[in-house]
Amino acid sequence: MRSVFKVYCNADDQPFSSDELRAALAEADALCATVSDHIPAAVFPDAPRCRIIANFGVGVNHIDLAAARAKGVAVTNTPDVLTECTADLAMALILMSARRAGEGERMLRSGQWPGWRPTQMLGARVWGQTLGIVGMGRIGAALARRAHHGFGMRILCCNRSPAPAALLADLQAEQIDSLEALLPEVDFLSLHCPANAASHHLMNAARLALMRRSAHLINTARGSVVDEQALADALSSGAIAGAGLDVYAAEPRVPESLLRLPNVVLLPHLGSATAATREAMGLRALENLKAFFAGKAPRDLCN
Ligand code: DGY
Repeated sequence: MRSVFKVYCNADDQPFSSDELRAALAEADALCATVSDHIPAAVFPDAPRCRIIANFGVGVNHIDLAAARAKGVAVTNTPDVLTECTADLAMALILMSARRAGEGERMLRSGQWPGWRPTQMLGARVWGQTLGIVGMGRIGAALARRAHHGFGMRILCCNRSPAPAALLADLQAEQIDSLEALLPEVDFLSLHCPANAASHHLMNAARLALMRRSAHLINTARGSVVDEQALADALSSGAIAGAGLDVYAAEPRVPESLLRLPNVVLLPHLGSATAATREAMGLRALENLKAFFAGKAPRDLCN
């Protein structure tokens, strides 16, 4: 970016305050934001100098897209380049939750491992089980491929629009009309829908109660898609067996009610966190900026 623009870096990676973001939008021609930078309507100055927010990440729920459009600010994201690594992490959470990997590592590190026993830390089998995917977009489909072709899993999915027939055929997958019909059928449920008003607390107490007691919930999408208190209640009452989370409603705060439960794996928003993917995300954000200032439509325009 420095070879093309005059760049002001957020060197210590502390999320900008609303005032700092407002100042940046007022003074810079472009802003390269991350998921940690919350940009609601109130943050936009009356007459921003900024003409484009090039988000470093695929999710743009932290930016008010309509407010940006109203102020003449384009918003772009970085799809595709993080799909495979995020799907890898969702698969890791399925395995960790089913096989109690976090719990086992905590036991070993705390010196509490008494040695191999036939009934020690029995978990759930992943191979051949049924995986429900909510949101059969790029990442949902990439997880489904891993799960079906690598782990022999049966794939069921819920999606707003019909999933491509070729994709369903490749995965021998079935699209289910409603989440209510999907939930009782799956051993693992993985969330891959965008965060918006329609998906807010999609997994609430009533829907968690429709899952099998042996089932696991995996969330690498956004924290707001799950009612975290309802999830903690379901995990502690045994209404579901386990969960694997990479995202939280008010990051970096993780609810105490989840932190004290043994049957939830808690990761710090690592979905896209590989060196290769983060570099590709940066290059994609740069590509959007360069196109925009060359007068072309940026490839990843969101608003
Ligand atoms: C994304 O790209 O949306 C990741 O969750 C990081 O923000």
